[in-house]
Amino acid sequence: MPRNKLLVTGGAGFIGANFVHYWTRNYRRDRVVVLDALTYAGNPASLEPLQSLPAFRFVHGDIRDATLVRALLRDERINTIVHFAAESHVDRSIHSPDAFIHTNVLGTCNLLQAAREAWEADREATDFRFHHVSTDEVYGTLSRDDPAFVETSPYDPSSPYAASKAASDHFVRAYRRTYGLPVSISNCSNNYGPYHFPEKLIPLMIVNALSGAKLPVYGDGSNVRDWLFVEDHCRAIDRILRQGTVGETYNIGGGAEISNLDLVRNLCRLLDEAIGASRALQGTYPDCPAARGSSCADLITFVADRPGHDWRYAMDAAKLRNATGFQPDENLVSGLRKTVQWYLANEGWWRPLLDARYAKWVRQNYPDAGRT
Ligand code: NAD
Ligand code: TYD
Repeated sequence: MPRNKLLVTGGAGFIGANFVHYWTRNYRRDRVVVLDALTYAGNPASLEPLQSLPAFRFVHGDIRDATLVRALLRDERINTIVHFAAESHVDRSIHSPDAFIHTNVLGTCNLLQAAREAWEADREATDFRFHHVSTDEVYGTLSRDDPAFVETSPYDPSSPYAASKAASDHFVRAYRRTYGLPVSISNCSNNYGPYHFPEKLIPLMIVNALSGAKLPVYGDGSNVRDWLFVEDHCRAIDRILRQGTVGETYNIGGGAEISNLDLVRNLCRLLDEAIGASRALQGTYPDCPAARGSSCADLITFVADRPGHDWRYAMDAAKLRNATGFQPDENLVSGLRKTVQWYLANEGWWRPLLDARYAKWVRQNYPDAGRT
């Protein structure tokens, strides 16, 4: 592959950071510029090991800043935009939707417009791509027997988060049809793995269990999600950039559907095993039930359901598989094991995130969480 110049928006967030690690490991000659506003979800520590690479640059800025984005595209001669930057937490979108409209809709439109201007001005180059990273949540909810979502499933978003992502997908397609911008879109299922902010289900359950805090399961825990290990998502985007067709949308899924309650029970089993087998971990996490010979599952607590909570997501990823041969490397068992091991080995990354500001937000929104 020739030397590419990538702009990765949201590269200090969960998937963006994993993508930047993946890309710099696999394509050492490529230039990688990260643009990230460092909201509560952006963490420069996730990119720390990359700061010394000459081909890597971090820019602290907002995707809504038209002047900044135009200058970056021009000065860095960016030919590939991989757009992760977003407000991404459904519960926050229910509480305060405005930031979701601003970043996910207006921010995406600003990037599209800047790409259009920069790339129309540079008519000689032909290898441009604007890849938009989106979600399965745009399709709404499934019942038990419904077939999995395909790329032509109608959009039917439930939460303000999902609606804002749906709007951004429509704008990306409109820029293709109206201006011919070389775009692609991927809609992916729930991700998990390293560098995941501990407000989302899997990392929240891990860090709460380690501190002996309650594990808040919404409703009766029967809601089903399809989980994909984050590095597999990064590989799928790589395939779409290299082998996908401009203008197309690809669903990405893990083929790993599980109810929230079963998922949390699996996590508890993995933590019980890891802590039960290590005196050192028992000393580090004395409040974890597994350190006292009990099970982390004792902490599971059913709490009020999320309003408008989608019951089931499932992705049919046949189009991507047929076009690129992509298959996930990890299954749910191997991926969860890797994730638990990562959180046990990287307390220095997640502990500072549980600061007073975040703890206050959790207390306000989940008054029952964290009380033993
Ligand atoms: P995240 O919340 O962990 O990270 C988002 C990043 O975007 C943060 O670093 C944040 O600082 C940055 N950001 C937010 N507003 C910005 C702005 N205005 N300008 C510049 N940067 C800004 O999110 P994530 O889980 O890594 O998700 C990344 C993308 O993938 C999102 O677009 C999301 O919709 C999509 N997605 C996520 C999942 C998932 O399971 N996490 C699944 C499918 C799709
Ligand atoms: P989440 O990680 O927020 O992802 P999404 O809403 O994008 O699917 O939640 C995953 C599932 O877990 C979802 O059905 C809501 C549920 N959930 C809980 O039961 N308890 C929690 O504390 C959280 C954060 C989520």
